[in-house]
Amino acid sequence: MKHIVVGVTGGIAAFKACQLVSDLSKKYEVQVIMTQNAMNFVHPLTFETLTGKKCLIDTFDRNFSYEVEHISVAKWADVFVVAPATANVIAKFAHGICDDMLTTTFLACKAPKVIAPAMNTNMYENPVTQENMDKLRGLGMHFVDAASGLLACGDTGKGKMADVEVIEEAIEMALYEKPLAGKKVLVTAGPTQEAMDPVRYITNHSSGKMGYEVAQAARNLGAEVILVSGKTALPCPYAIETVDVKSAADMFEAVTSRSGDCDYIVMAAAVADYTPAVTADEKMKKKDDDLSVELVRTKDILKTLGQQKPEKQVLCGFAMETQNLIENATKKLTGKNADMIVANNLKVAGAGFAHDTNVATFILKDGLVENPLQSKEDLAYAIWDQLIRIGKEKGNE
Ligand code: CTP
Repeated sequence: MKHIVVGVTGGIAAFKACQLVSDLSKKYEVQVIMTQNAMNFVHPLTFETLTGKKCLIDTFDRNFSYEVEHISVAKWADVFVVAPATANVIAKFAHGICDDMLTTTFLACKAPKVIAPAMNTNMYENPVTQENMDKLRGLGMHFVDAASGLLACGDTGKGKMADVEVIEEAIEMALYEKPLAGKKVLVTAGPTQEAMDPVRYITNHSSGKMGYEVAQAARNLGAEVILVSGKTALPCPYAIETVDVKSAADMFEAVTSRSGDCDYIVMAAAVADYTPAVTADEKMKKKDDDLSVELVRTKDILKTLGQQKPEKQVLCGFAMETQNLIENATKKLTGKNADMIVANNLKVAGAGFAHDTNVATFILKDGLVENPLQSKEDLAYAIWDQLIRIGKEKGNE
């Protein structure tokens, strides 16, 4: 289990650090370090109950196992998060000041750092604070920008700590090696909507979860990611350029206008194969007779990309089948000139739409890879293992 150190400093946003620590404790081992000022907002007992670990505050605490604690905690951390980070603590970090447990451990820690500032707008925008943040960014620390809104001091402006979910995504990013650093990745996700009139459309059950996991994994592995997404209920992922589209034609345009310089493209979207021949301008009124709608084929995006694929580009498609999985998916691999097809059988328990799990077989030019039932998140990393291997074989280092 990975180790996360969470530093909490004295701002009202410290109350949100409780949710952050609670969420992180479900996935990681978490150690909280508080400043004295933070204790004015949240009691250490809250964090101790959530983490099952003594909250560290005092560098000279006599009640500890005999280790030089700020050094041992600094070495233990896989990621060091500071949320909320006040203007004061950012200034101290920027100047190497270590006058308490938090700042001392921070200076001693070589792990990736994630800092979520929270303060009054004027303090945030003050060039001194901006310069301090720029300096720390330049040293490789990751800032999760403060959001705008109504602040506790009554002002409206920038300075609200970013949402906990966003900070969690930034922590995920910090936890991974970066084999995709410098690479450009395009992922499609979700269903398309094919309009019949201004009110009705034809769509499918895709939730977008698989494609979003593939995009987020690519981002965590260091890639610059563009996500072209049909309508889903999922939040816009952190640090990913998201392009919202509706129809298969919109998706075709959004993808083909961006695909040229991409190193990897993963078509996880459930693109409609047919669209109404005519979209009525006005709402279609019902009649007594039955209604037939003429449907025409959409353009196959994956096939088009396969036909114009640059030499080093890696192209991955998906296939969802209910029968003859391998045979049908293999036809897609060759017919669309893809490098890999992720094939799943909708009828297998735990696979397919809307689940958090999937069971997939990778269809490759040189064989098959069967995968166990696993979370869509784990499957996304398994997909990247394969795609990165194929990329290396193509000389896309
Ligand atoms: N795809 C695409 N453009 C389309 C349709 C599908 O790029 N107009 C992509 C999907 O994103 C997916 C793969 O092609 O990666 C799925 O192949 P497809 O032939 O569409 O599968 P099905 O829709 O299941 O069709 P079939 O009836 O041939 O099984």
